[in-house]
Amino acid sequence: MSTFLVTGGAGFIGSNFVHYVLESTDHRVIVLDKLTYAGNRASLKGLPVNRMTFMHGDIADADLLDELMPQVDAVVHYAAESHNDNSLNDPRPFVDTNILGTYALIEAARRHDVRFHHISTDEVYGDLELDDTERFTETTPYNPSSPYSSTKAGSDLLVRAWVRSFGLRATISNCSNNYGPYQHVEKFIPRQITNVLDGVRPRLYGEGLNVRDWIHANDHSSAVLTILERGRLGETYLIGADGEHNNKAVIESILEIMGESAGAYDHVVDRPGHDLRYAIDSTTLRTELGWFPQYSDFHAGLEATVQWYRDNEPWWRPQKAAAEAKYQLTGQ
Ligand code: NAD
Ligand code: TYD
Repeated sequence: MSTFLVTGGAGFIGSNFVHYVLESTDHRVIVLDKLTYAGNRASLKGLPVNRMTFMHGDIADADLLDELMPQVDAVVHYAAESHNDNSLNDPRPFVDTNILGTYALIEAARRHDVRFHHISTDEVYGDLELDDTERFTETTPYNPSSPYSSTKAGSDLLVRAWVRSFGLRATISNCSNNYGPYQHVEKFIPRQITNVLDGVRPRLYGEGLNVRDWIHANDHSSAVLTILERGRLGETYLIGADGEHNNKAVIESILEIMGESAGAYDHVVDRPGHDLRYAIDSTTLRTELGWFPQYSDFHAGLEATVQWYRDNEPWWRPQKAAAEAKYQLTGQ
């Protein structure tokens, strides 16, 4: 039995991992979360209090980290500023949390010799052409496009350097776009679902031909636990579920699931520097560690996600107006 320090455990994917670990293992969890606009304690409701502690704080707080590190066997580092559109409007918090925050955490893990797992994104590799037959692999060169992806790339490189220079016992995973319950309404899929629930037409950036490689958050969590249990120290693993769809098709599926006509959406101004396509080859994780995704039916996962937002308006409603107010400033 281990104790994990889960940073960003009140966010979308971090809270999914906390649920997953507490429901499928005997491990204990300490959540460290600053509760930014993206953090929500309600995402951790109903979990066994004897195996989970919530600590409100910043990953850049070295004194707090020195108190927490002796209590844990591993750090699972999800905390980040995570939204590309926000990073284009105000990059500073991305540098502070993603780069300086990660630096503070790996220094603390080094001081206390604690196992470290770094959560990252496939966006560090830049983008692919629509007809490229190659997908991202562990050896694809880094080529990030946005302030968000460049700060995530910077944090990955810090972790790699700490492994090589200081022997930090670390692994890294780079995952594709996640969907599922508890995702903030600023993100693509929950934004469109909650727009339709509000009687507002979904918003498609540009022509909507951009492709994302969707994975259910539960599959991301099972992959991370697999890497913590069996991953080789110093290695990077790509996590993906072969879920490529373009944005136009995703909006049309949401409209169909919600009983609206397929064309009932608006094209809005495109994102500057908008990455065209992400696609992950997760062969290493599958063959080396025996991990496979369980949620391979994207349409069924989308239906369940729509139902979750229908059933959980008290969870998302308080964030909706502020998220839309930000989009109004850019005409999106
Ligand atoms: P999120 O924005 O939903 O949650 C981020 C959490 O981190 C929030 O709870 C927030 O309060 C917390 N946080 C932010 N700054 C902090 C700080 N300085 N100290 C402590 N806590 C802080 O993000 P998410 O979508 O759940 O993403 C989690 C991680 O997964 C990120 O590292 C992201 O880069 C990575 N990732 C996300 C996706 C995706 O599709 N969302 C895909 C691959 C990788
Ligand atoms: P997003 O959820 O922001 O994830 P990421 O930028 O990390 O891929 O966006 C997913 C895709 O959806 C991306 O190509 C941008 C597009 N998008 C829209 O078309 N409309 C929207 O309202 C939003 C938020 C995103």
